[in-house]
Order: sequence, then structure tokens, then C-alpha cells
Amino acid sequence: MDKFVIEGGRRLEGSVRVSGSKNAVLPVLAATLLTDEPVVIPNAPDVSDVRQMLKVLEGLGSKWERSSEGVLTVRSAPVPHNEAGWDCVRKMRGSVAVLGPVLARTQHARVSLPGGCVIGVRPVDLHIKGMRALGATVELDSGDIIATATGGLRGEEMYLGGAQGPTVLGTANVMMAATLARGRTVIHGAACEPEVVDLGECLNKMGARISGLGSPRIEIEGVDRLHGCTHSVIPDRIEAGTLVIAGSITGSRVRVDGCRPDHLMILLERLREAGLPHQFGTDWIETGAFDIRRKRPKPTDVTTLPHPAFPTDLQAQWMALMTMADGMSLVTETIFTDRYMHVSELMRMGANIRRQGASSIVMGPGHLKGTQVMASDLRASAALVLAGLVAEGTTEVHRVYHIDRGYARIEARLAELGACIARVDDHPDAIATDTAPAPDVIVPVRAAKVAKPAKPAPAKASAPKAQPKPAAKPAKAPVKARGTRR
Ligand code: EPU
Repeated sequence: MDKFVIEGGRRLEGSVRVSGSKNAVLPVLAATLLTDEPVVIPNAPDVSDVRQMLKVLEGLGSKWERSSEGVLTVRSAPVPHNEAGWDCVRKMRGSVAVLGPVLARTQHARVSLPGGCVIGVRPVDLHIKGMRALGATVELDSGDIIATATGGLRGEEMYLGGAQGPTVLGTANVMMAATLARGRTVIHGAACEPEVVDLGECLNKMGARISGLGSPRIEIEGVDRLHGCTHSVIPDRIEAGTLVIAGSITGSRVRVDGCRPDHLMILLERLREAGLPHQFGTDWIETGAFDIRRKRPKPTDVTTLPHPAFPTDLQAQWMALMTMADGMSLVTETIFTDRYMHVSELMRMGANIRRQGASSIVMGPGHLKGTQVMASDLRASAALVLAGLVAEGTTEVHRVYHIDRGYARIEARLAELGACIARVDDHPDAIATDTAPAPDVIVPVRAAKVAKPAKPAPAKASAPKAQPKPAAKPAKAPVKARGTRR
């Protein structure tokens, strides 16, 4: 299990290109099940969630290959298998997106219920409601969703929003199923996220007839069959936003290329309110250099809401930025109200944050100091890396497999911008299982591990100078720096 070792306080400088969107490519991969012709995705990001989704597709009989240039080609079986079990669904909740395509294609699907996750309860009742509206009988049995549509799905007009508003993957799932249904489907209360629009555009290239994308009313005229296509997914707006915040939190000139600023207008507006210098063009955003310790950001509140409001997937990163602000800012999370696992870790670094229910008050300006912190989910890990970039001294972010789920080689790309960050093989005994969160258990091992400094990271990454600390017991294995491993 790897960790990141970050030496904070470096000014970044340079440009970085954004990858294809993880949350756009996952449903596009599910959509490949709607045809037996190849679907080519030139810019699928090489992140572990994508690799996991490809395993799910393999289990359903699909074949895939990735060229040396990174172009991904996926071909579903003439008759896909129709069962996706617990083993694959539990590893990645997004795999529930295969339900609609498999049901539409084979008239029967058995997909394991994904269950909750660390960011809170994540039900799939709206996915099920949508399948039922399309005429499927859906039962829950032994933790599986069993959906049957003997004779095929039929189009229907439905309201798909829930108590918390629209559902992104639920809209994707129903939209995919409806492409092969008989007649017209209208989804009211549909998600307007760019990833849903991107999926719809891919489906239209495959021969679907979808209109209203980007609005809460999506109309789908069913067709008999879909065919293959080539589809480049949209740039990852959350990766872009994270890199922009990396520039802002370090007071650096960082140019994020190949992004869609129009997908991030709310972030740019909040940066403006916070007085953080930046510019943008049609496909780039550049943060300006300034001394963040002298000119603090203005405290700026955010409330997470469906697109185009502030995305929940940037809430943790924004909170890291607001720890540097000159005063008190309020962060309110309305999508996943428990998505606050980063709060206690930021507080371990010296941030002053109080949480009450779905809101957190960040009292700045903080003086963050490097320490050992534990990544708990994908975006929380990103926030800890951002905090590490500006903290005094060395920050070790453990369990970075979370960040690998959605950010491709983030440490190498930050290092290319001048950050002092290295990927280091964590001691194999440090965390024995995925369910061993107790930091007090890893303290002695950690002390042993950092006694041996990390080797320098390749490229422009200068490896952090590990501070020799008294070892509680000798390290069993040398620490390896693997700065640009992936
Ligand atoms: N909800 C229901 N019932 C459902 C589905 C959702 O009540 O059947 C509720 C959820 O509990 C939540 C709200 O609706 O309160 C929105 O959830 P949504 O279904 O939109 O989330 P999702 O589709 O499962 C995707 C992204 C998440 C992102 C959310 C919100 C993917 C693979 N995941 O999840 O991304 O946070 O939309 O924008 O696209 C991430 O990348 O870190 C991540 C978690």
C-alpha cells in the first residue's frame, strides 16, 4: 500500500493537461454493453476505477484493449452475460450503471446492490424506480437487484428526482435502458451534470435518439439497435478543479490546459469572491502567483448542490483552501451530508474546523503543519494532498489507493509543476487490511518507516527530506520511492 510524502511550502509553476473524465467514462463504458460493435474511447483515463469497470465488463463477456497511445476499445459479447456480482460492485459503486444496459440488451439483469460507502448512504432506489417505470419487474433478493423485462422495455414518462434532487448515475442508467425501449421515454427531474450530457452524446453517436441533454427534461425515442462509435469523453472537471486549487493554495502560477472552464464556472466565481487571481480561456484556466501568507484569501462560503452549482466532488478541496482564508467560511454539503471524513485529518494538520450536521465552519487563517494523515475517500485524499502542499514540513498521506481511483499519476503531475511529492511504498505491516483505520495502531510502524529517508523521486520531483525520527522498532523493509510509477 502506497503513501505520498509531501514537503510543503513549495511554489508551483508551469502547465498541466487534464485527463478524460472518470465520471464520464464509467457510464460510457457501461453503454458499450448496448451494442456488439466496438466502442473506441481515445482518452479514457488510466485510473483504478476505470480498470475496475473493465473487470466488470470482462465478467459480462466483453473484450477490451488499450493501445500504447492509451486508446481504449471495448467490444461487448453478442449476448452479454447478465450477472454482476458483489465482488465487483462492492469495489466500485459506479458499476451499478451496467444494470440498465444489460437489462435493455438481454431482458434480464442481476446486479449486486452496492450498499453504503464512506461518503454516506448511497441508495439506488431511483435506479430501480426508473427500471420499473420502463416496464421491468424488479426484485431484491440476497443483496442483488434482479430485473426482468420479458418482451422488452417500453418507453414511459417519469419523474426521477429524489429527496436530495436528481441522481447522476440513476439518470444515466435509465437513459441507457430507454435507448432500446419501445416508444418514447421522458425523464423529468433528470441530472444536468456534464457527464450525463457526455453520455447522451455518446449514445446519440451510437444511433440513439436523445434530446434535452443538459436540461432536467430528457426525451429518448427508443430504437431497435445501437452501433459502435468513437467517443472522446469530456475533460475531468474535478481533476481540473483540484489542480486549479493546487495553484491557488500555493499562491502559484499554474496553467490547467485541456479543460472546460464552462463546466467550472461556479469554482471560478468562488475564486473571484475569495480574491484569488486567475484567468481563463475556452480550454484553459491559469491561477496567478501571489504570496498566500501575506495576502490571504477572503473567506468564501460554498454549498454543494447539483450542477451548475458547487460540486460535492470539490467540497473537500475547497475546504483545504479555506483553511488559509482570513476569517470564517461555511461549507454546506447537501448531496452527501456525511462527506466530511477529511475534516478530522485537516484538523490533525492544524486546521480549525467545526462541523455541525451537514455544515462545517472553517476558521482561518490556519497554520497547517505536516503530519501523518489518512486518506478515506477519493476527494478527501485530494484535499489532504492540497493541504500537504502548503503545510509547513512533511505530510504523509496514507492509503493513496483512494486517490488512484480517480486521479491519474497525480503525484508525478504535481511534481512536474515543482511540488515536492513522492510515492513511497508503505510498510506492508503498517495497515494490514482495508478495515484497519486506527492511526494509533500504525504509529510505531510509521516511526520505523520514516527512519529511512525516501529515495529521490524522478523527473523534477525532489523527494521530501524525511525527518529522521527515533524508530520504535527496526523497519522490516526498505522504503522505496516510486514517484512516477504509473
Ligand atoms: N440518491 C438517492 N437514490 C438513488 C440515487 C441517489 O436517494 O437511487 C441520492 C444520493 O444519496 C445523493 C443524491 O441522490 O444524496 C445524489 O447521488 P447521485 O446518484 O447523483 O450520485 P452517483 O450518481 O452515485 C455520481 C458520481 C459521484 C458524485 C455524485 C454527485 C460517478 C461514478 N459518481 O455519483 O462522484 O459525487 O454523482 O455529483 O459518476 C467521486 O467522483 O468522487 C464521486 C463520488
